Amino acid sequence: MKNPIIVALDVPGAEEARRIVDAVGGHAAAYKVGMELYAAAGMDFVRELVGAGRDVFLDMKFYDIPETVKRAVRQVAAAGVRFLTVHGSGPVMRAAVEGKGSARLELLAVTVLTSFDREDLADLGYPCEVQELVELRVRKAKEADMDGVVCSPLEVRRVREIAGPGMTLVTPGVRSPGAARGDQKRVATPAEAIRNGADYLVIGRQITRTADPAAEARRILEEIAEARAGAS
Ligand code: C5P
Repeated sequence: MKNPIIVALDVPGAEEARRIVDAVGGHAAAYKVGMELYAAAGMDFVRELVGAGRDVFLDMKFYDIPETVKRAVRQVAAAGVRFLTVHGSGPVMRAAVEGKGSARLELLAVTVLTSFDREDLADLGYPCEVQELVELRVRKAKEADMDGVVCSPLEVRRVREIAGPGMTLVTPGVRSPGAARGDQKRVATPAEAIRNGADYLVIGRQITRTADPAAEARRILEEIAEARAGAS
């Protein structure tokens, strides 16, 4: 079984992040650097992780004029990053694909932030249901030649139907049965997310806030493998 775990390094500095990466090691497929850690430790830390042989998921959700996006993506690709998020708007995605060129980087579209509801969309001037916009943006991502999409585990089944087998689907918002949810409201278990078509799961606190993060990552892998064996 391919390891689907991406560990979210939601910490305020390189030192704390290093501690997690050292503890989890090869039990994760990749490590996610989001805005907080990026603001604290920047590309120097990203390059350090890449240099140490780790796959990095840079969660920057780029959104700017096409030329700026293209040039920024070129820099990220040159740094050896494995996954990068950009907003799922047509011109932004097309510019990102151009900037990536032939690099190994996988570009992932953020469709609609999962914190958004219908009212937040209306506030932006989009008079539609969240699900409609998610579906539209998945289609646009495919048309733009993006490599994948970030989506909620509760919508991943529908997203897979639209995206087809070739796109990489990544889902945050997963929790093992019984694990603390923190501020996540709409969650699915890791096994459910995989069963519904996810390729990778972004997991933060359930792994990073335990005494033995490597053991927790292994336990989640077993949980998924057992669910798979039970289903077949
Ligand atoms: O600690 P937890 O597992 O909830 O962390 C989930 C990670 O996924 C965080 O880095 C969070 O920012 C990110 N994320 C999310 N929901 C989204 C998009 C990203 O939880 N819709």
